Amino acid sequence: MNKYHEEDLSRFAFLITGGAGFIGSNLVEYLLKFGAGKVRVLDNLSTGFLSNLEEFKQHPSFEFMEGDIRNLEDCKKACEGIDFVSHQAALGSVPRSINDPITTNDVNVGGFLNMLVAVKDSKVNRMVYAASSSTYGDSKELPKVENRIGKPLSPYAVTKFVNELYADVFAKTYGVETIGLRYFNVFGPKQSPKGAYAAVIPLFIKALKDGIPPLINGDGEQTRDFTYVENAVQANIKAMMVQDSGAVNEVYNVACGEQISINTLWLTIKRLMNKELDPSFGPERPGDVKNSLADIEKAKENLRYVPEVAVKNGLENMLTL
Ligand SMILES: NC(=O)c1ccc[n+]([C@@H]2O[C@H](COP(=O)([O-])OP(=O)(O)OC[C@H]3O[C@@H](n4cnc5c(N)ncnc54)[C@H](O)[C@@H]3O)[C@@H](O)[C@H]2O)c1
Repeated sequence: MNKYHEEDLSRFAFLITGGAGFIGSNLVEYLLKFGAGKVRVLDNLSTGFLSNLEEFKQHPSFEFMEGDIRNLEDCKKACEGIDFVSHQAALGSVPRSINDPITTNDVNVGGFLNMLVAVKDSKVNRMVYAASSSTYGDSKELPKVENRIGKPLSPYAVTKFVNELYADVFAKTYGVETIGLRYFNVFGPKQSPKGAYAAVIPLFIKALKDGIPPLINGDGEQTRDFTYVENAVQANIKAMMVQDSGAVNEVYNVACGEQISINTLWLTIKRLMNKELDPSFGPERPGDVKNSLADIEKAKENLRYVPEVAVKNGLENMLTL
């Protein structure tokens, strides 16, 4: 993993909510590798796994706090003595939010608001948070530019947009510093292939390993801007550390800037794994956007973000681990 900061991280204490999950645990790994003073994880283990944190258990700077962001006291306790928060905890997945909008809202909106209040009432300098490309909703414009969004297409997308609205209001009303990172389909090590709401790349890899054809929703010609997790880690580190006040209280696309169809993705993974298997095709999934591609100029300019790992290299890394 490359180094994305100049500061001495040993001076700072970090809180990663959702740190037992996919993106959060990769962020924990970076912070501990580069000598962070403290790395605390707050997670209720609903979709994350302690096994993602197993390798850090004995690290003197690591601390695990089992708790729920729906509980304000848990959020307040987790923010004690913390300098920077990276808020990753949420219930991901569009279909999950369609099946259970209330729980998704409780966690993603109620939990987010609790974290903002806890940050406001503590000495935390800044909260970087996981926003989402789903906020572009029904906008057909490509590439997606931060200040032009459509209407949300799912309850999940509503929650992620509400996060941005609350962050903005907390900046104006209470002077809380935040930066939102609109991730575009992140993939990489520690992403779970299990459960009904697994993401497409771990599902494809598992299907090829097991020799069981995966189901592609729709004709497979829908496109996504897949982002290797190391690029998302880089964006988090740079967003927490950026000094320029003009870069703060903004949202940024975090992506690779490459548009790939699901069919091309399937062929690429198949070739890399040297396997022969054909997928089956099903109906389009409600709530899904047809095409996605990010304009990443704003993050490049303000955060000095550079997507160093291209999709193919990311897939190769993931497959050799
Ligand atoms: N993976 C992607 O492609 C992607 C894309 C856009 C946005 N995001 C956002 O990025 C963040 C991280 O996603 P991920 O892919 O790592 O998902 P993940 O499910 O692997 O991680 C989320 C973590 O949050 C924890 N969590 C959930 N509810 C909680 C609660 N009530 N209290 C405390 N912890 C709770 C889970 O146990 C899990 O460890 C989420 O906010 C997600 O919405 C992810």
